[in-house]
Amino acid sequence: MTTTADTPRHTPLPLLVLGHGRDLESERGVECPGDLPAPSDPSLVARARAAKEALGERVFVLGHHYQRDEVIEFADVTGDSFKLAKEAAARPEAEYVVFCGVHFMAESADILTADTQTVVLPDLAAGCSMADMAAVDQVQECWEQLVEAGVADRTVPVTYMNSSAAIKSFTGRHGGTICTSSNAKTALSWALEQAGDGGKVLFLPDQHLGRNTYARDLGRPLEDCVVWDPHKPMGGLTVEQLRDATMILWRGHCSVHGRFTVDAVEAARREIPDVKVIVHPECRHEVVELADEVGSTEKIIKTVAAAPAGTSWAVGTELNLVRRLAAQFPEQRVVFLEKNVCYCSTMNRIDLPHLVWALESLVEGRVVNAIRVDEDTAHWARVALDQMLALPGETAKD
Ligand code: 13P
Ligand code: SF4
Repeated sequence: MTTTADTPRHTPLPLLVLGHGRDLESERGVECPGDLPAPSDPSLVARARAAKEALGERVFVLGHHYQRDEVIEFADVTGDSFKLAKEAAARPEAEYVVFCGVHFMAESADILTADTQTVVLPDLAAGCSMADMAAVDQVQECWEQLVEAGVADRTVPVTYMNSSAAIKSFTGRHGGTICTSSNAKTALSWALEQAGDGGKVLFLPDQHLGRNTYARDLGRPLEDCVVWDPHKPMGGLTVEQLRDATMILWRGHCSVHGRFTVDAVEAARREIPDVKVIVHPECRHEVVELADEVGSTEKIIKTVAAAPAGTSWAVGTELNLVRRLAAQFPEQRVVFLEKNVCYCSTMNRIDLPHLVWALESLVEGRVVNAIRVDEDTAHWARVALDQMLALPGETAKD
């Protein structure tokens, strides 16, 4: 198809009723084949235990920090997305890796595990709205327009882990790197150095992480950032704006972290004496600027764990994690920062019925919801992931 600057290719996002049909561009609207146990079934915990026991070392269950308690209970290891991918790679003896998280995480695990291992996502509707905000044809179109504007050869893509394998693959093909919320500063410094004087970074798909890392962590001017809107011709930018910018931020965001507000930070400070506000860098820039601490999920946990007893924390990240922190550290006062924010709805798609269904199917010799990234996509995505691992100082720390 031929496109011009005036006719951007839009990724069709059909409105499917959840649980019916299939949108191959994302995980929306996927139903589970077979019988899903009822959530009210009182034997679910015993069934999950029995299935795990029957599978023994053949199965390894990973649980992201944002998962429900009922699921975390069965995780062999918990962590942020990068830690979990590494854990999966470090378990070659496990025939099956059951990923209790979202689709992009299961894809990364598939890329990083051996071909003999199978990664299973208990509910295929567990996608990520942020990852869905950058479709590969939109990113290709953006790149073509950077080529036309004469800036592509000085632009290095930096892609957040929270992205599809196809976008990671695009990044590998164009000499870029993946980053996580814990190593974004190092990744961005590396990319800016690669881009050289007058060079640029195309940061995908979370504009907030890109802006926060550039302006807060690297102390560079906000005026250097422009936002590429994939739904507008030329991203809504002029050629001059593109040429003048250093950071081209993709117009994507997390539908959970993007909802924390300045008002909530101010209310916490008013209402809780000596409160410390700690937020995830996916939050908006004005919120991050007002916070006392900013960090990945692993950093948030470690900071609260290491804080002196009696300290108060208002935490701006997913509610399942904040509730668990409050329960695990009763000697601290841990509160959720924003009353208008809910759980991550896609993370919460993974529940005990889906986990039991996935595990029992494996016991019966049926692999359900296997996540397989095609060889070519996996190859280039791996190049971008390996570039991240090669950044100075093994950057995937907290
Ligand atoms: P991390 O787990 O890498 O901190 O990312 C947060 C997140 O939003 C995961 O979906
Ligand atoms: Fe995606 Fe945000 Fe949910 Fe993480 S918390 S899975 S980034 S929507």
